[in-house]
Amino acid sequence: MKAQATASAPAKVILLGEHFVVHGGPAIVLAIDKRATVKAKARTDRKIRIRSNAVKASGYYLNNRFYAEEGGEDAMEKLEPIYAVVKDLLALSSKRVGVSIDISSSIPVAAGLGSSAAVAVASAAALDQLLETGLTKDEIFRAAFDAEKIVHGNPSGVDPAISTYGGVIMYRRGEKIKKLDVDADLPLVIGDTKIERSTGQMVAHVGDLKRRYPSVVDNIMRAGGEIAATSVEALKSGDLETLGEVMNMNHALLYAVGVSNEPLERLVYAAREAGALGAKLTGAGGGGCMIALAAKEKLEDVAEAIEEAGGEAFITRKTMDGVRIEG
Ligand code: PMV
Repeated sequence: MKAQATASAPAKVILLGEHFVVHGGPAIVLAIDKRATVKAKARTDRKIRIRSNAVKASGYYLNNRFYAEEGGEDAMEKLEPIYAVVKDLLALSSKRVGVSIDISSSIPVAAGLGSSAAVAVASAAALDQLLETGLTKDEIFRAAFDAEKIVHGNPSGVDPAISTYGGVIMYRRGEKIKKLDVDADLPLVIGDTKIERSTGQMVAHVGDLKRRYPSVVDNIMRAGGEIAATSVEALKSGDLETLGEVMNMNHALLYAVGVSNEPLERLVYAAREAGALGAKLTGAGGGGCMIALAAKEKLEDVAEAIEEAGGEAFITRKTMDGVRIEG
């Protein structure tokens, strides 16, 4: 067994298909150049100590009991998914040791950028190195996905999938992850409303609407599936105009199922008026982030317009690197 190991995994944006993916539709997802880094160290005692700068919490588990060190009463809830990954990997390795997990991340939390999944994926990969469990990428994805299920009740798995594989993928629940060959740069501006929201609550809201208006919501979701399918050709050929147009249509469908709100709308409209090819909320909605696709020479204008409309903007690009070992 090694003394320590470090791994990192990227954040993501959902280009198309959020929410609908929970109910079996396709989602198109992109890994972006912000990462979570996790260092795993072996301990001489049996404690499992977890410290995260991302959620400002720290504490340790001993004999399945949690002792908070930072972050007060919320610390356990925040660290629980990582503890699940650690227990899973320790059980797989049959090693009776303690570990220290140190998480540092530049990904905004609870904003729809997949921060918790990136942390879970990087944790699984760092522990796999440390404990020499020899997991495949798919098994790392699985371990992180199981942990994600603790954070939000009914996740689709799209977040841990893109954090594991990187690049651009088409994801559909229960199907093999499809990597898409995308040469185009996909210049994006991300606008953060800075409003934290619970993905679980937003997912529950859409589920409730679907139960009450099944035929209406099924048709909205079917249209969402057609949009994702249309985007695949546009992505492969680098046709950013078409991509922008279908992003706008996808945003309208998300609005229809009640997951947009006024702050998001303000940023979306500001981006479009500043010349974006398309703009939409990304992730669960109800706050969190929106994305705007724009030609390179318009990126600064779009970012400025988003800031003027009250958001925090940053320009980003896709990254091909999924989870990776850092040492
Ligand atoms: O907001 P995020 O990044 O947690 O993304 C949520 C995406 C949903 O489709 C709304 C939920 C899911 O599990 O796919």
